[in-house]
Amino acid sequence: MAALQVGKAEILTELRPRPKISVIGAGNVGASVAQYVVEKELGDVVLVDVVEGIPQGKALDLAQAGPVHGYDSNLIGSNGYDETADSDIVVITAGLARKPGMTRDDLLFKNAEIVGSVVEQVVKRSRNAILILVTNPLDAMVQLAWKKSGFPSERVIGMAGVLDSARFRTFIARELDVSVENVTAFVLGGHGDSMVPLPRYSTVAGIPITDLLPADKIQSLVTRTANGGTAPRDSTWGSR
Ligand SMILES: NC(=O)c1ccc[n+]([C@@H]2O[C@H](COP(=O)([O-])OP(=O)(O)OC[C@H]3O[C@@H](n4cnc5c(N)ncnc54)[C@H](O)[C@@H]3O)[C@@H](O)[C@H]2O)c1
Repeated sequence: MAALQVGKAEILTELRPRPKISVIGAGNVGASVAQYVVEKELGDVVLVDVVEGIPQGKALDLAQAGPVHGYDSNLIGSNGYDETADSDIVVITAGLARKPGMTRDDLLFKNAEIVGSVVEQVVKRSRNAILILVTNPLDAMVQLAWKKSGFPSERVIGMAGVLDSARFRTFIARELDVSVENVTAFVLGGHGDSMVPLPRYSTVAGIPITDLLPADKIQSLVTRTANGGTAPRDSTWGSR
């Protein structure tokens, strides 16, 4: 509790700092995460990467966009972990991205090494944080981070189902020329080639897509969703 003196009156205010959100890996995904966080003023951001100058430069660029977009979040870029101490949330995007022709599983050994060392550094300094993993192969990285951190499972989360479902929604909306806002879609399973989009539970304004599209068209949307990110037409970087 802090006291503010205004004239003779003393106003007691509870100073609650914004949540601290650390983003490890300042590449394509990490920089986007930092941007979404500050634009929505979800918290202050610490951006960490191994490459010198990159997290510092990206954090400064985003901070300088604050006056234009109207946000006040603080941003720090660093090549070390001390600035991440006492984070509320740590988003881990560090690692290699897929190149054309690679599956997510091809990244396993290298990214396991990277994510393992990142988790070690992070949990030493933020014992109560929630970890959100993004690095692929996602399901294996979540398991690794959970084991390595010793955190309860509800504090180690993987980000992918929302992307897979959003992808499916986008393809359905384009196919039927409707707004994405009218489309719900449901994708279960892992974030890999074995994911399971569920057409009967995917709807446009409440109508299952199985009533709106022929089976072969639905199958091609399902396949495109499961293989999402591998074709240049599906993403700029082909990494997801
Ligand atoms: N879960 C998902 O839905 C999803 C979506 C997109 C991307 N991904 C995955 O996220 C990862 C990042 O993708 P990207 O497109 O941002 O790649 P990127 O190459 O643009 O960025 C990765 C960053 O990690 C950094 N890095 C590497 N080793 C590090 C370490 N030890 N410590 C800190 N930083 C380190 C690199 O310097 C680079 O800046 C990839 O594994 C990609 O496959 C997952």
